[in-house]
Amino acid sequence: MAGILSVTDPDRLGKTDRVDAWWVEPLLTVLGLTAFIVYSTWAAFQGDHYRFGPYLSPFYSPNIKEWFGWNLDFSFAFSILWVPAGFRATCYYYRKAYYRSYFMDPPGCAVGEPHGRSYLGETEFPFILQNLHRCFFYLAAIVLAFLWYDAYEAFFFKDAATGPATFGMGVGTIVLLVNVVTLTGFSFGCNSLRHLIGGKLDCFTCGATARIRHKLWGGVSLLNLRHTEWAWVSLFAVGFADLYVRLCSMGIWHDIRIF
Ligand code: FES
Repeated sequence: MAGILSVTDPDRLGKTDRVDAWWVEPLLTVLGLTAFIVYSTWAAFQGDHYRFGPYLSPFYSPNIKEWFGWNLDFSFAFSILWVPAGFRATCYYYRKAYYRSYFMDPPGCAVGEPHGRSYLGETEFPFILQNLHRCFFYLAAIVLAFLWYDAYEAFFFKDAATGPATFGMGVGTIVLLVNVVTLTGFSFGCNSLRHLIGGKLDCFTCGATARIRHKLWGGVSLLNLRHTEWAWVSLFAVGFADLYVRLCSMGIWHDIRIF
C-alpha cells in the first residue's frame, strides 16, 4: 500500500524498502555525540583553564573549591559532570538517538537491525536505570541554578586586583548567557517535568492550583515540542562555553569587552 513503510527482512542490518537517506540522521548523531563526549572528557581531565575573569566554564560549575573549599586529588569536573551526563543519557530523546545510531536497534523506522536481537525494552539491567531520569532532572536543576548564578557573575569585572567589581559585558558574558538559556530550554522541556506538573490531574479547571498547573504544563509542553532542537543547541552551547573560557584563559582567544 502506498505511503506505508516496510522492512522486508527485519533481521538484516540496513535492509529496508525506504528510498530516502534514512542513514544521515544516525550518522550525524554518532559524529555529534562522539565529538562532544571526546571533547568534554578531555576538558574534564585538564583540571585547569576553567576560569577567566568573571567567566567560569560550565563543566566546572559549581566551582566546589570556591563554594565549599573542597580540594580534591582529581579534576573536580568529574564530581559534577556525572549529573548532566546522567540527565542527558537518560533523556527520552537521547535514548532514541543513541539506540538508533550507536546500537542500531534499529537504525531507523522500518530499517533492519543486526541479526538475532531480542527485545527486552528497558526492563533489565543496565537499561532499567533509565528510570532514574526524574532523579537526574532534580539534580540537573540544582546545577542549572549554579549556572544562572555564573551567568549573573559574568556581568561583574574586576579591573583592578583590589576594589569593587564593576558592571559590564563581554563576549564571554553572552556566551555564558546563551549557554544557560539553552540549557534551561532543554531541561524545562523535559518529559519527566511535563508529567510531574501535569500528570495525575483529571481536571485542569477545578481550582486555582489545577489552573496554575495547567498553565505551567502548557509552557513545558511548548518547550517539549522542540526538545530535540534544544538538546542539540544546548549541547553545542555548553561545549562552546567551555572552549571559549578555556581558550581565553590560555591566551589564545581575547575576550572583547562590549561595555
Ligand atoms: S526527556 Fe529529555 S531531558 Fe527529560
